Amino acid sequence: MVPLLQKDLNSPTTPFLFFISPHAKRSSMPIRVLAIAGSPRRHGNSETLLDWVISAMADSPDVVVEKIALTEADVNPCRGCNACEKLNRCVQRDGMDTLHDKLIEADCIVLAAPIFCMGICAQAKALIDRAQVFRSRKYVLHLPIVPPERKGKRLGVFLSTAGQNWDYVFDAAVPSVKCFFHVIDVADRDLFYLMKNGVDEAGAIRRHPNAKADADALGIQLVDELKARLGR
Ligand SMILES: Cc1cc2nc3c(=O)[nH]c(=O)nc-3n(C[C@H](O)[C@H](O)[C@H](O)COP(=O)(O)O)c2cc1C
Repeated sequence: MVPLLQKDLNSPTTPFLFFISPHAKRSSMPIRVLAIAGSPRRHGNSETLLDWVISAMADSPDVVVEKIALTEADVNPCRGCNACEKLNRCVQRDGMDTLHDKLIEADCIVLAAPIFCMGICAQAKALIDRAQVFRSRKYVLHLPIVPPERKGKRLGVFLSTAGQNWDYVFDAAVPSVKCFFHVIDVADRDLFYLMKNGVDEAGAIRRHPNAKADADALGIQLVDELKARLGR
């Protein structure tokens, strides 16, 4: 695998971006981080929070981050046909085909999405609904999501921003996020959250008193936890 060295997080509107640490040892088994920017507003508040976290992670040797902008990833909504209960795959051929495999391969999945109308934005919700294929695999077809040796070693992260200052503004989004991680075999106890309210216009997150420091600290904490779990 030859990832493009990419530390400029404001690069063009490519849905898939790879970046690795310039200090990376290029281990044959890197820690794989899948970063998903869920907002339709590119480089807005939630994506900035995501960039801070993954940049802190990518500073660590052996971490490979792949970032996906959902708004450009062609993930259609679920059709509710339940065909995945028989087929073990979705009937739709779109960007979810690629994302499906990446969700399985990642050691850490970081989902960033803003709050729209008191819930998670539609782009992120479409991804969550399309994860129904994993629910069918797990509970209807009784097939594994990840091999047994990887179970309990993966981490999930939810990053979010909201314009209002209400402390309950993230409450409706969290159950959907837990549902998403649950069906892809990341347990509630393996989830991390960083959610900042009171940031509305694009760039407001940069003026938040502790968002950047919290994001940096979370990135470091995640890498430490992943190294301990994966023994690397
Ligand atoms: C359609 C829409 C609905 C929104 N609804 C809410 C809301 O219910 N509560 C809130 O606190 N902020 C709401 N916001 C504000 C966003 O959550 C806020 O601007 C957020 O930081 C945007 O993140 P982004 O730049 O990553 O898109 C809404 C914004 C939009 C565009």
